[in-house]
Amino acid sequence: MLDKKIIEEMIETAIEMTKMSYTPYSNFKVGAALLAKNGQIFKGCNIENAGYTPSNCAERTAFFKAVSEGVKEFEAIAVVGGQNGVLTELAAPCGVCRQVMMEFCEPKEFKIIMATDKENYKIMTLEELLPMGFGPANLA
Ligand code: THU
Repeated sequence: MLDKKIIEEMIETAIEMTKMSYTPYSNFKVGAALLAKNGQIFKGCNIENAGYTPSNCAERTAFFKAVSEGVKEFEAIAVVGGQNGVLTELAAPCGVCRQVMMEFCEPKEFKIIMATDKENYKIMTLEELLPMGFGPANLA
């Protein structure tokens, strides 16, 4: 159950993770907190690279950490981001991250919490952010 207490904890964790963000090129700092169905929270930040394309978003960092530890069932993710780590606007996951979510999450159920702080957030499902997404079911 995604109650207010867990939503607030996830947002706080995502905000904390912007401090780990490695962004010498964009200086756009993103933090994520991914809630697994087993209750574990996996943290992520964006990690940039001088080669640009190897850069990884905060959301994917969190997903890959979880999957690499054997956890593949998820309930929700909180995402925050802003230039210089200043969180003024909601930061929506990029298309690549939405596709990674599509691999492991049920589009109608998985929730994406976009926040600037604990009081200001918007929750959307993966299906809303990625309508008619292509996923494992298409290859079954
Ligand atoms: N970024 C994320 O971490 N997540 C997103 O969903 C959007 C973009 C990062 C990638 C890059 O390090 C910086 O934000 C600017 O694009």
